[in-house]
Amino acid sequence: MVDTKVMLSGLTLDNPVIPASGTFGYGKEFAEIYDINILGSISFKGTTAEPRLGNPLPRIAECPNGMINSVGLQNPGLKAVCEKELADMAEIYNKPVIANISGFSVEEYVECAKAMDKQPQVGIIEVNVSCPNVHNGGMAYGVLPESAAEVTRAVKAVTSKPVYIKLSPNVTDIVAIAKACEEAGADGLSLINTLLGMRIDINRRKPVIANKMGGFSGPAIFPVAVRMVYQVAKAVNIPVIGMGGVSSARDVIEMMMAGATAVQVGAANLVNPYACKEIIEDLPKVMEELGIERLEDIIGIIE
Ligand code: SIN
Repeated sequence: MVDTKVMLSGLTLDNPVIPASGTFGYGKEFAEIYDINILGSISFKGTTAEPRLGNPLPRIAECPNGMINSVGLQNPGLKAVCEKELADMAEIYNKPVIANISGFSVEEYVECAKAMDKQPQVGIIEVNVSCPNVHNGGMAYGVLPESAAEVTRAVKAVTSKPVYIKLSPNVTDIVAIAKACEEAGADGLSLINTLLGMRIDINRRKPVIANKMGGFSGPAIFPVAVRMVYQVAKAVNIPVIGMGGVSSARDVIEMMMAGATAVQVGAANLVNPYACKEIIEDLPKVMEELGIERLEDIIGIIE
């Protein structure tokens, strides 16, 4: 019997597989087709202080081996998430969840973190400083070490839950930003968010996406994600949740060998709603094939 358990900031996950924020909602639709309690955890859709309708349509562009989204942080807002969505989620999922929060000011991140701190199901607060789809917020806080550290410090000051900062790949030096977050007190890091991309409809001579650009995700970005997870994990002493194009059990193992303690699955959920279930079922078989007894033993084994 292989051991798929991993420890993440004091939480024991049955396996490292976590649906990524924005690709799994609050789990409701997926719970109708399989028992989502098999998941290691769930990072639910990013919460902002106020409800948001998101960006104008169209906001999805298909690409070879991936997709571009420009959702724009659509969500029902902090009050509805805490009072309704989390209560509903507790009915269908009985493990600690990851609360992804976003903001347009440091004060907004703080407001969201304070509210999530009070939610018993929230095991980790994941602070999104890397959304490429909004102006004056999101990624604006994640592209410089100073502003990423400022948000980290402010959030850490109002919660006793582990704080993970979700980093952007759209930077020249992700390691410098990761280290700044660690120094500011982050308990862990999540990476990578999407790569800024664009498609043009050459018949209409217009960008496919109403907002022109959006975040590129899917299998095409997997090698970039592995590289960044490897670089960051080597440079910091806090856990890394790896993500970016993960779509198979073998990808999970590769991410963990690069240095990830747990792994989020994003775009794959949109292509195949059973993606996380299939990965979790395949994981023990692939571990046996590769002679891995304990998944934790392979974390960061690449020199
Ligand atoms: C979005 O809602 O625009 C996606 C979130 C993100 O990329 O961080």
